[in-house]
Amino acid sequence: MTVQIVPSVLTADFTRLGEECRALEEAGADRIQWDVMDGQFIPNITFGPDVIAACRRVCDVPFEVHLMCERPEELLPRYVEAGCEIVIVHPETLREPHYTYRTIRSLGAKLGIALSPATPLAFVEHVLDLTDLLLVMTVSPGFGGQAYIASMEPKITAARALIDESGYDIDLEVDGGIGPETIAGAAAAGADVFISGSALWKYPCYAEGVKDLRRRAEEAWRR
Ligand code: DX5
Repeated sequence: MTVQIVPSVLTADFTRLGEECRALEEAGADRIQWDVMDGQFIPNITFGPDVIAACRRVCDVPFEVHLMCERPEELLPRYVEAGCEIVIVHPETLREPHYTYRTIRSLGAKLGIALSPATPLAFVEHVLDLTDLLLVMTVSPGFGGQAYIASMEPKITAARALIDESGYDIDLEVDGGIGPETIAGAAAAGADVFISGSALWKYPCYAEGVKDLRRRAEEAWRR
């Protein structure tokens, strides 16, 4: 396992998204996460595929898209076309999850499954063979800047055990309230991929933030 730091551009300067993506790439981000919201699944609206396709043209860092939308199966082909390598969906938004998971992979993208705080790990235990990334949300989906829900750490640990027992190569990603004070707990619980939005933007520069968060997660693993 290696620590991966994945900024969420939900907190970025929307007047300069392309430049922000380039700066995050130069700062050492392993991927960039696009939080896509449709105002239906949650009361917020963010990025369409054309915005992501435009930013795709100005940097090479891999993109992942976190679809917090109703009926994501209708939208996701356009996000793959826009250049998103990983498509993350919430099982509750899918009419037929196994079919949608196979569709994402048939489009050549990797499959991410996101579990909101109240969604049990059982939602993924029968589809680990299709899963490339398991996202344990440490906030309720919808907005950046929320407080980290530390009570999710036992769920992260159970997810780590499930993944290790499966033998599949699956990223265990956490998202929500990840910063210098919380990343160690998430890492110690078993996460290896860390989404950071508002906390990263509080550092003097992106490179310092990516480096500090990576160091803190690695130190937690060594303890
Ligand atoms: C919630 C979003 C946020 C975002 C990260 O729907 O998914 O968790 O990515 O925001 P911070 O790091 O500010 O919690």
